[in-house]
Amino acid sequence: MQADDELCLCFHISCRKVLNYIRIHQVKIPSQLADCGGAGTGCGWCRKQLEKLMILAAQRPPGAEEIEDWLACNTPDRQKYAEARERYRAAKNNGD
Ligand code: FES
Repeated sequence: MQADDELCLCFHISCRKVLNYIRIHQVKIPSQLADCGGAGTGCGWCRKQLEKLMILAAQRPPGAEEIEDWLACNTPDRQKYAEARERYRAAKNNGD
């Protein structure tokens, strides 16, 4: 993913917005990210990724000049991520 790709697809919240929110609000627990535009409160698909990003950012937050490389190493491919979400939602709707 790149900085402006959506991490929470339900609420159109980008990786950059999540990382900025984590940094500014010094997020300690994943549920605090719900206050970042509702991230993670829709279908639930992004919650594991939000938690992973929060933990990684706490260990070593990316600087403005390295954010693209950092995200490429720490987030899934945008297209595959969106496709996996569709499968997740379909399974959820089928009661799997
Ligand atoms: S993708 Fe974030 S709650 Fe659905």
